[in-house]
Amino acid sequence: MTPFSQHDAAGRLRHLTTLDGIPGEQIRAILDRAQGFLRSPGELPARARTLDGVTVANMFTEPSTRTRASFELAARRLGGDPLNLDINLSSRAKGETVLDTIYTLQAMAVDVFVIRDAEPGVCQYVAEHVQEHVSIVSAGEAHLSHPTQGLLDALTVLQFKGGFRDLVVAIVGDIRHSRVARSSYQALAALEVGEIRIVAPPTLMPDADEMPLARRYSGFEEGIAHADVIMMLRIQKERLAGTSIPDDQEYHRQWGLTRQRLKLARPEVIVMHPGPMNRGVEIASDVADGPSAVIRAQVTNGVAVRMAVLETLIENRLQRGASR
Ligand code: NCD
Repeated sequence: MTPFSQHDAAGRLRHLTTLDGIPGEQIRAILDRAQGFLRSPGELPARARTLDGVTVANMFTEPSTRTRASFELAARRLGGDPLNLDINLSSRAKGETVLDTIYTLQAMAVDVFVIRDAEPGVCQYVAEHVQEHVSIVSAGEAHLSHPTQGLLDALTVLQFKGGFRDLVVAIVGDIRHSRVARSSYQALAALEVGEIRIVAPPTLMPDADEMPLARRYSGFEEGIAHADVIMMLRIQKERLAGTSIPDDQEYHRQWGLTRQRLKLARPEVIVMHPGPMNRGVEIASDVADGPSAVIRAQVTNGVAVRMAVLETLIENRLQRGASR
């Protein structure tokens, strides 16, 4: 079997399971398309009909509010038909039954499967077995990847900072267990951000061979000094098995982003958070609601980015000449 690729034979994007290996120019094209949908800040993206007749099945087996709603709204805003299913793929991923599920849905003309799962490899496994005209989009794979979150983070940086090259971006918190950190890092690295910092207590740092372009900081203050962008992450308690971490109060004392600490960054710093936030733990409430926070813009941008991804995959399918 040929090794799995997210690209078709002509190099067009066919699936989106990870940002790893997606060239900067393809990421930029998706961000441009997403920006084309955005109107004034805070307003939801414009509608179009480019997904007319396209069915997008959302299969989420881990909790999700914003990502699932975001994919559903994205499909609807382009005239597509979203289908929300409660199907546990992970427990069956290695057997044949997962394929029965997928083939059944294919027979009902599902065109795009959006999959979130706690087990690594499910998206790729499904992608390897679907018909030529079908695309798979990851909505979060274990601790490994969350590609549309990485894209919406990059879009938000672009929107507020106008570019990437001269920026210092600090990703702070539980990086070790965060798929958001990995995907955002991959997007920012592909877009050639000036300096990417990962800032975490030693137990929450990723392995040494991960995120090779990032500078590592084990002190919070030092890590956010003069930063243009600070991305805060929650502790992934559901993925911690065996890791010892301080209690919430102590974590906030050592690793919480407070107004006082924020003064160490550049005056025009933006503060990002993928949600769900734990106010009073990794981020103080007055910072989350303060003038530097762009957390709600991230959510709006998420809809635009998911529209851009879905439209890109369907347009590429047309160009490939793959039809049902
Ligand atoms: C993140 C996720 O599920 O990976 N949330 C999201 O998609 N916005 C982050 C998290 O759960 O901490």
